[in-house]
Amino acid sequence: MTKGLRLVLFGPPGAGKGTQAQLLRERLNLTHISSGDLFRHHLGLGTPLGLRAKEYMNRGDLVPDEVTIDIILEKVMSIPSDGGFILDGFPRNPNQADVLDKKLAADSRDLDVVVHLKVSESELLNRLGGRYICRDCQSPHSIGEGEDTTDKKCDQCGAGLYQRDDDAPAAVMKRIEVYNEETTPLLGFYQQRGVLVEIPGDHSVDRVNKLIMTALDS
Ligand code: AP5
Ligand code: MG
Repeated sequence: MTKGLRLVLFGPPGAGKGTQAQLLRERLNLTHISSGDLFRHHLGLGTPLGLRAKEYMNRGDLVPDEVTIDIILEKVMSIPSDGGFILDGFPRNPNQADVLDKKLAADSRDLDVVVHLKVSESELLNRLGGRYICRDCQSPHSIGEGEDTTDKKCDQCGAGLYQRDDDAPAAVMKRIEVYNEETTPLLGFYQQRGVLVEIPGDHSVDRVNKLIMTALDS
């Protein structure tokens, strides 16, 4: 049996990580691990972890590493060694990347590819302003300006939709700033490793997906 792909989807808030992860996981049979979805799931259940994460998320800051790293690595390392995964939103700073690297290496694994979705800031703001997510499965949806959302349901599972608290304009600006300061240094780290692939992400969902698939094929 061939080994599954170990992939990181990298990019700023609203770049389309969740959207592309949904397409890739089905096509390539990969386990999707999203740190943000995991925190929101805990928040929905009202667990101590969710309540702790909420205060950081709502103001657009990173949740502290001591809360984040163990919970994500536990998910990653529970995947069989020949199984593939998509990491969406993790790692997000040099310490997270370093710990992930060491943990995988200790199990004779490493990352195959880091896909960087490059999207202009104006497009990010536009996308996040119109994003609604599913209450159950967290799939992102785009709703046009002025469109009535009252009866909109998730196109994946049929549950209701809501807007994330951290999609309020002030939190979005903070998330972009945090991404630029704390997360973009990882691009150099993965480029040096020879695993970084740059994808122009301002195109349509289908076009971006085709660009990713072409890059993965080569
Ligand atoms: P997280 O949930 O990871 O949020 P994010 O990184 O800010 O990214 P988003 O989920 O907002 O955007 P996305 O790239 O997934 O875009 P999407 O596909 O939805 O993290 C949230 C918070 O949790 C963080 O701020 C932090 O507090 C905490 N956290 C998470 N991970 C952490 C970590 N590792 N360490 C510490 N803290 C952590 O698309 C956006 C919209 O655009 C949708 O409406 C979609 O339909 C639309 N769209 C997508 N692609 C296209 C396209 N090509 N064309 C047009 N529209 C598109
Ligand atoms: Mg997302």
